[in-house]
Amino acid sequence: MHVASSRKKIAIIGTGYVGMACAIGFAEFGHTVVGYDILPERIRLLQRGMTPYREAGIAEALARHLSEERASFVEDFESAVDGADFIIIAVGTPSLSDGTADLSAVEAVVAQLSPLHLNGATVVLRSTVPPGTSDRVALALRGSAEVVYAPEFLREGSAVADFLSPDRVVAGAESAEAGQRYCALFSHLNRPMLVMSLIDAELVKAASNAFLAMKISFANQVANLCDGLEADALEVLGAVGHDRRIGSMFLHPGIGFGGPCFEKDLKSLIHVMNTANTNASLLEATLEINDRQPRRIVETIKDELGDDLSSFRFGVWGLTFKGGTNDLRDSLALRVVDEILAAGGQVVAYDPSYRDGATESQRFELADSALAAADADVLVVLTDWPQFAKIDERAIAARVRRRLVIDGRNVLDASALRDAGMTYRGIGRRRTVDSLELAETG
Ligand SMILES: NC(=O)c1ccc[n+]([C@@H]2O[C@H](COP(=O)([O-])OP(=O)(O)OC[C@H]3O[C@@H](n4cnc5c(N)ncnc54)[C@H](O)[C@@H]3O)[C@@H](O)[C@H]2O)c1
Repeated sequence: MHVASSRKKIAIIGTGYVGMACAIGFAEFGHTVVGYDILPERIRLLQRGMTPYREAGIAEALARHLSEERASFVEDFESAVDGADFIIIAVGTPSLSDGTADLSAVEAVVAQLSPLHLNGATVVLRSTVPPGTSDRVALALRGSAEVVYAPEFLREGSAVADFLSPDRVVAGAESAEAGQRYCALFSHLNRPMLVMSLIDAELVKAASNAFLAMKISFANQVANLCDGLEADALEVLGAVGHDRRIGSMFLHPGIGFGGPCFEKDLKSLIHVMNTANTNASLLEATLEINDRQPRRIVETIKDELGDDLSSFRFGVWGLTFKGGTNDLRDSLALRVVDEILAAGGQVVAYDPSYRDGATESQRFELADSALAAADADVLVVLTDWPQFAKIDERAIAARVRRRLVIDGRNVLDASALRDAGMTYRGIGRRRTVDSLELAETG
């Protein structure tokens, strides 16, 4: 743990994925954090050291900071913010049906803060919001607190590690002093500190997420071309990503991006661009490609088995939107499961986060191990949990009756599965022989 030269009191409003990463992260930096959430049951769980979500390292760090009294959680808003140097707002901003961001939770927190004497506290908005929102928050709190907009760039599954080691710290602020006050919390990390206007910082977040989503859709489009040409997308995109101007992250083809951020943030940005009369076709295409991508799984299944899936049982590996989290929000894995069910198939699924039936499993069975789920006609991989790649291919082959694996995340070893007698279909992968075998025989 880093020991902060000047220990601050930091109130965290909203103890979801982002709020908890902030709480644990600032406690690791040596500050005192007090968490508040509108859900009292969530607070009571946190007081007992129990997190309602799965994140690497979070449970043991929470226990440590609770016992050392660096972190506490309260059911009362005013006592959370009382005497705080920084008040972090990390509440949800989900999509409304027209694609705009629902800002009601942010507005509710600002309405609670407005009548309070905040004694020069800095209010830091970390929720993702459309451009212009922070200026309105600053106006509402004028005279009582200065406002900073500090976008959060963490990835679920590595949220705390990402918080502790950001590539850069971005602080949109009403004044340079307020921005620097926030940046000082990270000064020991020796990373670029970028202080700018509130609206510029809001656009940094929007543009960053749009770019990453675009990169994923680009990778998927290249992979779909590889599928048509019997080329190997992992070879192609792997080599493309070695170019430092491009980079390999987010260039991995699969069933598309899901989760609580990319789609909603893209929709919100497209709405803002349309309102500002700015062409949004690149981002619209990004969403459209992503919307079509999961359908490739059922198309591939039908290509192998025909249109009627009613006599088949599908073993599904992975339900969460990505590995390392228990987040099912906008999970494309669930969308594919729905499509298999709609085509008449039966589903037995395994996900390391949902072993005990604690999910919407009325529609399908949950297995308590990956191999138990593989006791099916076909195996379909929908989430990139790293442990799936470690399962012995012969054990898979011994269970999957039609000897067919559809790997929607390209996580399994195609050659080893083929050696074990399986038919392997990935995203943008050659159907028969992998390129190494080609090179060896060529
Ligand atoms: N999850 C991510 O990977 C991620 C990454 C970067 C940014 N963000 C952004 O951060 C924000 C939070 O995301 P999240 O995934 O942590 O959401 P979340 O749904 O996990 O957490 C939000 C929390 O806020 C609480 N809340 C709602 N209204 C409240 C109120 N009035 N007062 C106090 N608490 C309230 C909810 O009960 C919940 O616990 C969103 O704007 C999101 O877009 C999320």
